[in-house]
Amino acid sequence: MGIQFSEESRVFKLDTPKSTYMIGIVDEENFVGHIYYGKKIVDTDMSYLMRIYEGPQVPSKNSRERVAFLDTLPMEFSTHGVGDFRESCISVKTKAGHTACSLSYVSHKIYKGKPVLEGLPATFGNEGECTTLELECEDKTLNLRTILVYTVFETLDAITRSVRVINDSKDTIHITKVLSTCLDMDNKDFDMITLHGLWAKERMISRRRITAGKQLISSSRGESSHQENPFMAILEHNANEDKGEVYGLNFVYSGNFMAQAEVSQFNMLRATMGINPTDFDWKLNEGETFTAPEVVLVYSSEGIGQMTRTYHDLYRNHLIRGEYKDKKRPILINNWEATYFDFTTEKLLDIAREASKLGIEMLVMDDGWFGARNDDTSALGDWVVNESKLNGGIKNLVSEVNKIGMKFGIWFEPEMISPNSDLYRAHPDWAIQVPGRVGALSRNQYVLDISRQDVRDSIYESISKILKEANIEYVKWDMNRTLTDLGSACLEADKQGEVYHRYVLGVYELQDRLVNDFPHILLENCSGGGGRFDPGMLYYSPQIWCSDDSDAIERLRIQEGTALIYPLSTIGAHVSDCPCHTNGRSTPFETRGYVALAGTFGYELDVTKIPVEDRNMIPEQVAMYHKYNDLVRTGDYYRIASYQNNNEYDCYSVVSKDKKEALITYIQVMSRPNYRTRRIFIKGLLEDVIYRIEETNEELSGGALMYAGINIANMWGDYLGKLIHIVAV
Ligand code: GLA
Repeated sequence: MGIQFSEESRVFKLDTPKSTYMIGIVDEENFVGHIYYGKKIVDTDMSYLMRIYEGPQVPSKNSRERVAFLDTLPMEFSTHGVGDFRESCISVKTKAGHTACSLSYVSHKIYKGKPVLEGLPATFGNEGECTTLELECEDKTLNLRTILVYTVFETLDAITRSVRVINDSKDTIHITKVLSTCLDMDNKDFDMITLHGLWAKERMISRRRITAGKQLISSSRGESSHQENPFMAILEHNANEDKGEVYGLNFVYSGNFMAQAEVSQFNMLRATMGINPTDFDWKLNEGETFTAPEVVLVYSSEGIGQMTRTYHDLYRNHLIRGEYKDKKRPILINNWEATYFDFTTEKLLDIAREASKLGIEMLVMDDGWFGARNDDTSALGDWVVNESKLNGGIKNLVSEVNKIGMKFGIWFEPEMISPNSDLYRAHPDWAIQVPGRVGALSRNQYVLDISRQDVRDSIYESISKILKEANIEYVKWDMNRTLTDLGSACLEADKQGEVYHRYVLGVYELQDRLVNDFPHILLENCSGGGGRFDPGMLYYSPQIWCSDDSDAIERLRIQEGTALIYPLSTIGAHVSDCPCHTNGRSTPFETRGYVALAGTFGYELDVTKIPVEDRNMIPEQVAMYHKYNDLVRTGDYYRIASYQNNNEYDCYSVVSKDKKEALITYIQVMSRPNYRTRRIFIKGLLEDVIYRIEETNEELSGGALMYAGINIANMWGDYLGKLIHIVAV
């Protein structure tokens, strides 16, 4: 495993347990070509795959056709303006206004471990877990260097890539585009899977054929977005859950991105991913370095399901940090859908008292506790307790909640400012804005210019003051609008193209301070539901609120799309009120519990007001959570049937790592008349082991459960579900 370099063939071979990635240095000019990425192979030199000995030949042999060479060579990091007309990874603007860039290999380093990306989230691993290759390349004309960084994981089929760009010249160079990854391959009749959505309907799985030309997903909203997630899978057309080759690309970044699959004239596929070049222009002064965030590549030759499980393992073990990394999360009750802005200390304590009796462990006070915030028209930025709602202040409230035996959590929206706030009246220039232009409101608010250190410090101070005042053990960090009217009062004209990225760096810096200063706090990110559900945020918070739609049936699709890459332990999921506040649907309380179990699990309703039969079910659900959460949080996730595809039912399972236990969740969305039992084929068990189905006491081999299947009887009515727990005998 690890990384090898052959001096003789000038080939780098990067191996993970089941995949190989190969890079070759080509011709006298040291072009960095891509040779191979796929199933593990033993050979160390496959450079014939680059076709450098076919026409148009390498430039040292045929300089007449240099452009044709550059436009066909599979590249590791394509550059703009010198002959490769496929998507470029880097583009510049020099003092003289020129844009061309060309990179050649200079040297390399191979070492154990994985470097930290300064100021950026990234996966991590120690010397026993990873090996890193740094390929140093340069453009001699520009005096610009790039370091292409690759890390392979010892036990997972994952390779990460990031890039550092260094200006060695005496002049300023503007980087107008820098992507993090380029993957060139022969097109094997590939499909592409991406995740699309909108508010309350995030991460719907979309699969399409990759055809000639460019197919692109992106965000220019200032966050990774509800609309398109920074994820793309390239897979063989006949690949499915369990078989076929799949390449996953996931960007560890929470702002504007682009990801693209391009099929060029010779039926070559180029997949690229990185920061969206729209409105990006980074001024790199002499000696300065720009670090482009990390892309996580996952390879699976065993279908989409294996790709999913590799991402889950990687993120659970090598991305998520902090006290709650491997720990069960307290069952919380959030008052948002229970009270909206209309609450007092007494109301919250009523909820807490009732919830505590039922086994719920933490009360979370959502939006509306600060400043003059009685609806969404005011007060964002005024992080001072509204004592007319919370008589006795936060300290009193938290200590009363603690006396009831519950933990306490709080909501903030630190990146925002309401025009109607004391903060805005004192600092109107703190909002992101274009001077002279009236900024577009969204949910009545503006975005704070988090790219500024003074703004960050002030916001951090007001938040941390609250956190220090009382025993607060959880924070929900919300972000409820996209960025528009980009402009920072503190940056010169030729640095305004840095605002989007500086904003994201600012968010990272703030969250880093928070998790370092308050290591005991459980942080949950949120953005109008799931508008910023990406690996970047998972580096700071072990969980993210998945969607503002917590209708159990809508959640089947939303959670399936989310779990395509992100572990179940990260998916914020609650049993919420009915009829559901986003779509008016009523579903059984029991089913809501089953669906929330495949996430962090909690409640979002007024427990003092719900029907008594539902309330009586809570202790059972609490017991169910405690019984199964270790398995759900740490096990292998298998999709068995998808309601998104079949429109009738959903089924997924989690199998323990030792394969001694599995929990299958089956949800019958639509009941059908005149219907026989439905057969379900369990996945991921050991063939020869005998398992007992807990509810019936039947004993069957893993082989029987997987290949012959089990029958599930029709249930009487819609939106019903059941759990099937099987344990090795
Ligand atoms: C966003 C969140 C909700 C809630 C509200 C409060 O919409 O997604 O869960 O916190 O903000 O304003």
